[in-house]
Amino acid sequence: VLYSKVASIAYHVPSRVLSNQDLEAMVDTNDEWIRTRTGIHQRHVAEPGEKTSDLACEAARKALNNAGLRPEDIDLIILATITPDHFCMPSTACEVQRKLGATRAAAFDLQAACTGFIYAMKVADSMIRAAGYQRVLVIGAETLSSITDWTDRGTCILFSDGAGAAVLVPSQEPGVQSCILHSDGNYGDMLMTPRVNSDTPFAERSRGGDVGFIQMRGNELFKVAVKNMSDVLQEALEASGVNEKDISLVIPHQANIRIIEAVAKRFGLSMDRVMVTVDRYGNNSAATIPIAWAEALEQGKIQTGDTIALTAFGGGLTWGSAIVTI
Ligand code: ACO
Repeated sequence: VLYSKVASIAYHVPSRVLSNQDLEAMVDTNDEWIRTRTGIHQRHVAEPGEKTSDLACEAARKALNNAGLRPEDIDLIILATITPDHFCMPSTACEVQRKLGATRAAAFDLQAACTGFIYAMKVADSMIRAAGYQRVLVIGAETLSSITDWTDRGTCILFSDGAGAAVLVPSQEPGVQSCILHSDGNYGDMLMTPRVNSDTPFAERSRGGDVGFIQMRGNELFKVAVKNMSDVLQEALEASGVNEKDISLVIPHQANIRIIEAVAKRFGLSMDRVMVTVDRYGNNSAATIPIAWAEALEQGKIQTGDTIALTAFGGGLTWGSAIVTI
């Protein structure tokens, strides 16, 4: 097998919408600040009890349906998330396997924060080309609302919930043309969720102040995000041999409109060649890219035969980019 390709892609967001006005009632912020600093107008958040696997299943069912496949046709499920249903086990991928009835599938989670979907796509591509897998469900799904400190105005305006799912299959024609991954753990503390101390007789006691919520150094991250997303996109273009002019649409991770615009500027791209969903969905980490990709198809911005570029950046730090003919 020479290539893998995406046979179908779909998304799901929870129905509850949280507007900037809603946030004004919760923390000291305002709609104007949020719009101008982030480009976010609203975001979707899960209902109590609505889990990452529930959102993932909704997206996966649509993707299977679009591809004309049954759950039992799937032989592998790779689910990228930083907000699994359970802290350790079972994996959210196994929850999805059970809920879908994907009885033949092996299933595991993958954690690469906002770069998770690109990481999962690379693993799926490799498993198809090297290990003979035939129909791989690649999912990016998050309920970041569950790890957001809703009293911290610096972060709670950014994060949201949602899921996107793609079916990857073997192909003789070019599909995933290049996929480049990077990490640098030295900058891990720029964006982290410190672990809540587990109070065993053996564990070190918490130093205090540690909570299981997202903590972020936004300003520093901003600069690294622009540089790394641009550099890795350039690297993926070179690895694929595809000319930037032949990219129909760039689909960047949706963290902040100003980050997206800065990346576009570095490549001299006009914004009509860059997909933006951050205004309506905010940042749902591993889910932003598949959601934006599925929406671009829905809106007719891209069609079969087009070549697109994905680029993402997230906690870890991790970053990555892929060039894909659809
Ligand atoms: N409403 C009103 N004022 C606010 C808010 C708010 N929600 N949040 C912060 N402020 C204030 C600050 O207190 C500060 O006030 P001061 O000057 O009196 O101290 C002022 O606004 C400016 O704050 P900055 O943090 O410098 O604002 P900045 O322009 O950097 O915007 C933001 C902050 C939006 C977080 C930006 O830095 C950003 O987007 N960074 C990247 C974050 C990111 O990409 N994170 C995720 C990447 S990986 C992943 O997706 C998981």
